Amino acid sequence: MSYYYECIECGLKVDGERVISKCQRCGDLLEVKYFYDEVEVGEKVWGGRPLSVWRYLELLPISKDARIVSLQEGGTRIHRCERLEKKFGLRRILVKHEGDNPTGSFKDRGMTVAITKSLQEGVKIVACASTGNTSASMAAYAAKAGLKSLVIVPSGKIAAGKLAQSVVHGARIIEVDGNFDDALRLVLMLTEVRKDVQLLNSINPFRIEGQKTLSMEIMEQVELKPNLIILPVGNAGNITAVWKGLREFKLLGLIEEIPRLIGVQAEGAAPIAHAYRTGVFNVEPIANPETVATAIRIGNPANWKRALKAVRESNGAMITVTDKEIIEAQRTLARAEGLFAEPASAATVAALPKLLDAGLVDMSEVALCVATGHGLKDPDAATSTMTPPLKIKPKMSDLEMALRQIEG
Ligand code: F0G
Repeated sequence: MSYYYECIECGLKVDGERVISKCQRCGDLLEVKYFYDEVEVGEKVWGGRPLSVWRYLELLPISKDARIVSLQEGGTRIHRCERLEKKFGLRRILVKHEGDNPTGSFKDRGMTVAITKSLQEGVKIVACASTGNTSASMAAYAAKAGLKSLVIVPSGKIAAGKLAQSVVHGARIIEVDGNFDDALRLVLMLTEVRKDVQLLNSINPFRIEGQKTLSMEIMEQVELKPNLIILPVGNAGNITAVWKGLREFKLLGLIEEIPRLIGVQAEGAAPIAHAYRTGVFNVEPIANPETVATAIRIGNPANWKRALKAVRESNGAMITVTDKEIIEAQRTLARAEGLFAEPASAATVAALPKLLDAGLVDMSEVALCVATGHGLKDPDAATSTMTPPLKIKPKMSDLEMALRQIEG
């Protein structure tokens, strides 16, 4: 086997063909590790492959002969945003739009790897708790693999587009009268007692492995490499994954410097940002997280430990933005740059002026914001604060009157 597991807390090393999430000695999370001096990487191996999750096969815990469950994920575009550069006074602002992925979010990167592994293990049912995107992605990949999927979501707090995706792809959906943290607690208990059900939240280390390709792509994709990567943070799997990808690239000599990582949380759901600000090493859960960015409406993030490490060790920061700033940033990104991202993603753009004001970033830096999900996922959040269109009878005089109103 080309990989092993290592506990993120006590360092215990474990071999295992099957997916294991928790350390048997201390109970903390496990991470996949490779025998790095034996892995073949770089252009000579990857040269003929397109930019995508599977370009990095040698750095994924999947054997070369596996039946890969893919919907052609990764290889998402990076947009240079010159109007934003002018507006905020930053040397360069790039946006990597993960909305380009098959189900419209970065979750597809982790799902292609984790579902490939589920299929290989002979799993028949996969399950997750979700604020919407994980479930949409899991439902699609489970459908492709021919697996049953079970989704547990907070009732009334899933954006319409995301719920529609899970329904259409045939997931069994259970709505909990509670929040994401309640749903995750339940699905964890369920997978403890039902050994035939595999957990597909980012506690599953195979999810992190797929998601790390986001940062690998970034470092290969642009000539002028960002020295600052800005991400929205909820359960903190993605910032963990991005940081892991960067560390592996550095270890293997593929990059010289690790960019600074900036995590952004919504003010009403910011347990990690709070711990960062107060300088402590423990995250206190928040009982009732609330934000318009429902994707990151999480009070008890599973991956908080590595998220804090990622921002501290990369000399980055963890900051908060308000719901008003998020909605304004979503509109700015859409109107100034033609990019439609969901509210959680827009939080990264909302963070830019705050980082500059606080002196955490200076004007000479090259920033890359990760737009984690497509704006179409959550049409209500995007339109609820907009002026509704004018309604007219099908008459030219009505049209002329309406135009006078719009232009005047
Ligand atoms: N952005 C979007 C669009 C998301 O859907 C999520 C998480 C995040 C950012 C934060 O990523 O949790 O790894 O820190 N969504 C999860 C879900 C929780 O269930 O779809 P994270």
